[in-house]
Amino acid sequence: MQDVLADRLGIAVSRGLLGLGCAHRANLAERLAITLSDEDGGVAGALSGEVLGRELGLSRAAVHKHIEQLRALGVGVESAAGAGYRLTRSFADLVAAETALPYVLRSMDAGAPWSAGLPYHYIPSCDSTNRVLKRKAASSPAGTVVVTDEQTSGRGRLGRTWVSGPKKDLTFSVLLHPDVAPARAHLLSLAGALAVAEVLESLPGLEGSVGIKWPNDVLLGGEKVCGVLLEGSMDPDRIEWAVAGIGLNVNSLPDALVGGLPVEQASRACEWRGKPRPTSLRAALGRDLARAPLLARLLARLTERWSGLDDVAVLEGLRERDMLAGRRVTVLSGPPRDEPVLSGEALGIGAEGQLLIRDPSGKTVAVFAGDVTVREAGGDL
Ligand code: BTN
Repeated sequence: MQDVLADRLGIAVSRGLLGLGCAHRANLAERLAITLSDEDGGVAGALSGEVLGRELGLSRAAVHKHIEQLRALGVGVESAAGAGYRLTRSFADLVAAETALPYVLRSMDAGAPWSAGLPYHYIPSCDSTNRVLKRKAASSPAGTVVVTDEQTSGRGRLGRTWVSGPKKDLTFSVLLHPDVAPARAHLLSLAGALAVAEVLESLPGLEGSVGIKWPNDVLLGGEKVCGVLLEGSMDPDRIEWAVAGIGLNVNSLPDALVGGLPVEQASRACEWRGKPRPTSLRAALGRDLARAPLLARLLARLTERWSGLDDVAVLEGLRERDMLAGRRVTVLSGPPRDEPVLSGEALGIGAEGQLLIRDPSGKTVAVFAGDVTVREAGGDL
């Protein structure tokens, strides 16, 4: 497995998708991870700077320098007297490039023309990963990802705010250069929500509890666990680029979030009224989840869903998970006014990804944008 990683890191470096220093550190972290799994837990599992240097083609001084950089990223490495370096705890929850790339590169399809996750830009804190990536979009390759541990001014759909728990959740944006007509752009965000739902329902303990609320809220037991925000630049004939931002509540406590808004702001604006309450994977599972392997699985599935975007398969996947079909709903215009635009029965998702609603006169109306609330006793979504 170590060889697979070394090969993939080498290929990424040779294609200019990854810096050499980062590749060395990812290799080092991975090599040290093997010592952590030593049963005796003693210094016998430590690796000397000399051995690490020989295996990775580095001088002992270079090994030392890279280890210091790994420590600065939060990787727990101790120097065992006379024996070398040893990892003190797993780094699976860290999403810095050095620690996430071993997972990301292993889950990639090596033969795919592009993959979400490379180049991988980790920023400890930023205003919004969508904003950061939009600035790089015209000059970056498809697949470029921006991941942060703290988003200070996250953007949600319809001008809303999105709040993620610092170092708790997954907050990232992926760059696409899709070969898709502008009229089909919204299918990219629907496909994104579907990919997230598919990964979540494959996690032990979450089977059967994942759904999608049109257009792209991913729900867990009827509560919102993930949102997708697609932004882009297009002319009438083609999409120049699209940035898909994904916020997934992983280990945060849902009480701190209300529909992606800070509690105090939500109660002031009543913006969450009738919308799904927030939840997190931790709330559903009763335990923390390691973020890096989860991110790797998400990126791999997102790549599959976005590559050669298959409308029919995406719509089928959405219909299977549609939480609105058959329910009485109201479509709202979105902030600041959040006015009701239409009420009726949700009939399902149409051939172009639109929400179909039967209005009170019996006419079927297609809705292409907006926010939907469920109008049933005890049935808020
Ligand atoms: C929604 O309103 O449901 C969409 C929320 C999207 C949030 C994500 S978090 C990463 C990316 N950066 C942002 O500023 N927003 C998206």
